[in-house]
Amino acid sequence: MTYLSSGANDANARRKPVTLPGLKVAAAKGERLTMLTCYDASFAHVLDAAGVEILLIGDSLGMVLQGHDSTLPVTLEDVAYHTACVARAKPAALVMADMPFGSYQVSPEQAYENAAALMAVGAQMVKLEGGAWLADTVAFLKARSVPVCAHLGLTPQSVHAIGGYKVQGRGAAGDALIAEAQQLEAAGADMVLVELIPTPLGERLTKALKVPTIGIGAGPHTSGQVLVLHDILDVTPGRKARFVKNYLAQEGSVQAAVAAFVREVKDGTYPGPEHGFEA
Ligand code: KIV
Repeated sequence: MTYLSSGANDANARRKPVTLPGLKVAAAKGERLTMLTCYDASFAHVLDAAGVEILLIGDSLGMVLQGHDSTLPVTLEDVAYHTACVARAKPAALVMADMPFGSYQVSPEQAYENAAALMAVGAQMVKLEGGAWLADTVAFLKARSVPVCAHLGLTPQSVHAIGGYKVQGRGAAGDALIAEAQQLEAAGADMVLVELIPTPLGERLTKALKVPTIGIGAGPHTSGQVLVLHDILDVTPGRKARFVKNYLAQEGSVQAAVAAFVREVKDGTYPGPEHGFEA
């Protein structure tokens, strides 16, 4: 039994709206959640028809749409524009918008003002990159009815501080990551997204939290999986990250590629051991 979408096989059936409480129930029952990045109305229709549960207007748009070499130049106006484009498709999927670099770091009040701007154009949840230092901000947003996903592990907005796009959370840093995630959960985070961490840490983190975890390069044990849409369609230039799977080559059409991602996450085929990182 599935508790959420009808899935890729019922692509033509109108789905019931995906809600945050529904996602939490589904994850608690062991159903694997699916998230893809999405930046426009046409792809929102395709992803929605395939049964993707969460559409992320990621600040990865700076790299895959705008051609920058990091997410840092992305503005709140950019994310708001693409969020509005996705929301106009009226997807059943939950719409999550990234808060770009510089839009939430100053104060909880700054974060609320900018999160509200994204919600006004259709976001139902926002995602912020950072650890325990964000706990007050998460609590401030939560108290004002802004659902929050905390993004830990590799946080691309910190690429210059980190010194590159590297695996995070090895050794003692893994314990620290779990502790920070627990602090954010206690502050009110509704979901935790983890990027580029060892597979065993993804499993420990998911067991340590009550809220759903969504992984990208975090192994198969998180509550759900996210990938960048352009990566699964193999239209991103350059070297592919280890966790990326080219579903277009496998399936032959965009619609079938997205449906295969949903199917393989749900049945546990993706991610395989070859997509993960050792401790
Ligand atoms: O911006 C984005 O696309 C993201 C994903 C990599 C999770 O944050």
